[in-house]
Amino acid sequence: MKKFIVLLILCCASSQVWPEEATLQNIKVDTDLPAIERGMDDLMNNCHACHSLKYISYLDLLKLGIDKKKVDFMRGDQPLAAPLTGMLSDEAAMQMFGLVPPDLSLMTKAREGGPSYVYSYLLGYYNTPDGVTHNRIFPATKMPDPLGISTATDPAKREELKKTAHDIVSFLAWASDPHSAERHRLGYYVIGYLLFLTALLYAVKNRIWAGLKKH
Ligand code: HEC
Repeated sequence: MKKFIVLLILCCASSQVWPEEATLQNIKVDTDLPAIERGMDDLMNNCHACHSLKYISYLDLLKLGIDKKKVDFMRGDQPLAAPLTGMLSDEAAMQMFGLVPPDLSLMTKAREGGPSYVYSYLLGYYNTPDGVTHNRIFPATKMPDPLGISTATDPAKREELKKTAHDIVSFLAWASDPHSAERHRLGYYVIGYLLFLTALLYAVKNRIWAGLKKH
């Protein structure tokens, strides 16, 4: 009985800490170009040093609607079809972190919780009173706090970082399915074509039957 009570207390105590700490903040990503473009800029500044997006090419950015001059500036002398490779070599990453940072192209699809997971992870860093940085969402992560949320105490600065994280995740959500807009457009054409074909066949059928009914 005593053991049971101790167990019960332990359960209650831990359930007070854990669910609250590890809960994801649910977000809805933006799908408009300005937000996605801001996210791309922020990602190039804050994440690209360590992470690649190997399924996204500079051409995809151009098709998205990013200004050609900007894309040309970003790619330097790489061809338009080149993917967004990270700047850190695998060897250097192994030395620094003991692993290679994962590619981010499909990240919002790969993790349970999707965009909300990545958003909460980026903002999940905090400092303990003795100055150690932890992450609520991924406690054992080897990634250093990329946006600096753990040291941001000013509420206005924290709000700004939340917006940055939101834009980055919106860009990553686009990156995980860059041809979605194109597919929707094609869908409208296909439906239009099918409607046209239906009307045509109906007219043909009427003509044939009109001829037959006379006899
Ligand atoms: C200094 C290098 C570095 C920078 C800069 C960096 N990351 Fe990371 N990132 C890592 C490493 C290392 C890991 C692997 C973490 C692990 O598995 O312990 C990682 C992992 C991740 C993961 C996967 C987490 C998981 O669940 O496995 C995501 C998502 C991520 N980073 C997003 C970002 C974003 C977005 C940025 C920019 C705001 C960024 N990272 C900036 C090094 C970096």
